[in-house]
Amino acid sequence: MSAMTSFRAPTKPRVIVFGNEKGGTGKSTLAMHLAVALLNRGMKVATIDLDARQGTLSRYIANRRLFAERTGNPVPMPEHLALDTSPHQIVEQDLATALSHTARCDAVVIDTPGYDSALSQAGHGYADVLVTPINDSLIDLDVIAHVDPHKQNINRPSHYAERVWKAKQARAKRDRGSMDWVVVRNRLGQLDARNKKLMARLVAELAKRIGFRVAEGIHERVIYRELFLDGLTAEDLATLSDRREAAMSHVAARQEIRNLIRALGLAETLETPLVST
Ligand SMILES: Nc1ncnc2c1ncn2[C@@H]1O[C@H](COP(=O)(O)OP(=O)(O)OP(=O)(O)O)[C@@H](O)[C@H]1O
Ligand SMILES: [Mg+2]
Repeated sequence: MSAMTSFRAPTKPRVIVFGNEKGGTGKSTLAMHLAVALLNRGMKVATIDLDARQGTLSRYIANRRLFAERTGNPVPMPEHLALDTSPHQIVEQDLATALSHTARCDAVVIDTPGYDSALSQAGHGYADVLVTPINDSLIDLDVIAHVDPHKQNINRPSHYAERVWKAKQARAKRDRGSMDWVVVRNRLGQLDARNKKLMARLVAELAKRIGFRVAEGIHERVIYRELFLDGLTAEDLATLSDRREAAMSHVAARQEIRNLIRALGLAETLETPLVST
């Protein structure tokens, strides 16, 4: 039973979708970190992998289960489901059926592939919150907006922005719901001050123009990737009975994930203390 009854919607869970038509921007990594942060606060979480062919989120979760079996640490697990477009085409109805099985959850975290597909589009259309991580690079920004090379300002929205717009319309048509779009700059470096400044300005300009919110960025940190084989995140290290030493970067990573949770409008979940395992 979840401790977060105030967070739970009366009839359905909050659906948080990680999406971006650009590959390798941190969708699966951040989806796992968010799901684990909510689980570690006693929430009932479902995770759906719409990129089952690559299967990063599914593998991350399978590794977590194996870690629990191997070490006897009962780390909290999500209810996980993976959908693939092969061998037959799965479309909106199949996703709707999958989502109907998550009604008792507090939150559903959906990971999508870094390319356009019917299944990914369907996933976007169910988002209460769409989180789009982008690497701090003009190449990544290009799928959301075209930048004028001379004036260095936003020329016009690009194909992913259009796709999100369509998903918002699909969502409004289906249940009159609205989607909150949050962009988060990921893998920020410590050194590239000039690029960082330009990206910050362009993302802020674009946010106003096409209507998304900007979350505080996530830095490049080894801790975001080194725990994959154990299916863990930096936050798990604070809850495990065999507590490992917390390095400064672990503490900073946990803080960044908490900032992300606040930016997603889920701040009340942070009031629940971490559940020790
Ligand atoms: N903040 C970070 N610090 C360090 N490494 C990171 C960070 N975020 C992501 N990574 C690494 O970047 C790579 C891409 O991340 P991930 O697989 O989560 O992206 P993705 O958007 O899901 O990719 P795809 O589009 O292929 O599904 C992985 O190697 C991951 O470990
Ligand atoms: Mg992925």
